[in-house]
Amino acid sequence: MRKSLSQLATYQALQAHANDLQSKSLRELFMQDPNRFESFSQQFNQLLLDYSKNRITEKSIDLFVALLNECEVQHWQEKMFAGETINLTEHRAVQHVALRDFDKSTSTWAKKQSAVLQHIEKFVDEIYSRKITDIVNIGIGGSHLGPMFVCDALQKFAKPGLNIHFVANVDAHEVNHVLKQIKPETSLFIITSKSFTTQETLVNAETAKQWFVKHSKPNTDIANHFVAVSANIEKAEAFGISVENVFPMWDEVGGRYSLWSAVGLSIALLIGMPNFKKLLQGASSMDEHFKTCQPKENIPMLLACLEIWNQHFFGTNTNAVLPYDTRLRYLPAYLQQLVMESNGKFVDREGEVLEVPSSPVVFGDVGTNAQHSFFQLLHQGTQSICCDFIGVVQPEHDNRAQHNILLANLIGQTQALMLGQTIQEAQEQGDAKNAPHKYFPGNRVSNTILLTELTPNALGVLLAMYEHKVFVQGIILNINSFDQMGVELGKKLANNILNKIENDNVELDQDASTNALIKFYKQNS
Ligand code: F6P
Repeated sequence: MRKSLSQLATYQALQAHANDLQSKSLRELFMQDPNRFESFSQQFNQLLLDYSKNRITEKSIDLFVALLNECEVQHWQEKMFAGETINLTEHRAVQHVALRDFDKSTSTWAKKQSAVLQHIEKFVDEIYSRKITDIVNIGIGGSHLGPMFVCDALQKFAKPGLNIHFVANVDAHEVNHVLKQIKPETSLFIITSKSFTTQETLVNAETAKQWFVKHSKPNTDIANHFVAVSANIEKAEAFGISVENVFPMWDEVGGRYSLWSAVGLSIALLIGMPNFKKLLQGASSMDEHFKTCQPKENIPMLLACLEIWNQHFFGTNTNAVLPYDTRLRYLPAYLQQLVMESNGKFVDREGEVLEVPSSPVVFGDVGTNAQHSFFQLLHQGTQSICCDFIGVVQPEHDNRAQHNILLANLIGQTQALMLGQTIQEAQEQGDAKNAPHKYFPGNRVSNTILLTELTPNALGVLLAMYEHKVFVQGIILNINSFDQMGVELGKKLANNILNKIENDNVELDQDASTNALIKFYKQNS
């Protein structure tokens, strides 16, 4: 049994070191060291990470390495890559990393994945040879956010004439909106659900099926228009999908880590199989970096330590994800699930209550839009928020002037957060009375991640980087990042409430608020 994090010698050393740095500002740190960027940046493939705008020194990095050692990160990393059972509550191995190894390894998992990729490849060819114009992925959580994010980000690589739609919410407005835009004969529905028991997905799939039966021409075979991605073949068959059209999922691949599996079918259809493989290969290259690179230069390890550092010793409990690229607009939503469903837990592996904070809150939006909504708080709010700024150097368009403005804003915001503006600087602007309102405390930390280009490979690198960061953070916190038991209670209670909504003869026997809300809903519907 591991000691609790706060009892570890290296954690206590970090605490002492943080105390020493509390009075040092980022301004000072940059003034003292003109080589700060060289010391605190890393480049891998097409990705640059600048973490110099964190309140760290060389000593901090040494202590991070010591913390990683004391938490046995390498040991856990080896266990994950060796396919050992590290998801202890669910008694499962964690195999999403093996799926990216399909062309390098001869492991059972690489073979399984190769077979699935062949199946997908054949299917993609078949769909391209038919008159399919619209793909509709019905799924939620990990069966939605990853594929939606990647498809949106990689539109440039989309098969011409193929439209992609995503339906997740049980709110029928969403599925209706999609169904209004498509025709049954030219549509393909992918029902993506690892469990094939998720209420939202099953309800939306049923609505789509009924719509299809009602609106399709006589003799249109439903089996040609509905396929599934699931670990529950029986349930998918019971829904009416022929067994050869059920693409497998596995218990060992968690929903939020599943876009690399057949859950990425919508991605493969949209961008084509060679590009889907490049996405996997990009992720695999980051796996290799993560496995082999020494901790001081290991991007996911550094990012995880920085987050613990900022959150535990400098009180930044919130992370803003700020992609300065419209193509990455769904990155915040994707990361919200990845980070908070993985590490938003209050007990450790042994079920003991944590003495330290676990996952930060993640939110975000695209720049520059976000500058005109919540950036006020980032600069002058009372809480300090750690920001990840993500940009792409090469745009897809040729409007370089506009792209220069976008990237200048990205860099400018990181600088403004870091430097701030002193009262004196505010006064010098001539409006002395308002100087306190024009004071920016600065000293607000950020990481900047720049990709040279937004390619499938680069996106694979970026996503695997975040996955491994979350993994390392989970190991440091000593929690199981691979279950999600906290999502169950609400689902159970919602079913009980649905029963009360649908049946007038059932007694309203809940708490006063719940009863009143059900009553109000029923009276007004
Ligand atoms: O929200 C809980 C969850 O189990 C997620 O972890 C998962 O990604 C999502 O529901 C969807 O699950 P499924 O793919 O089984 O429908």
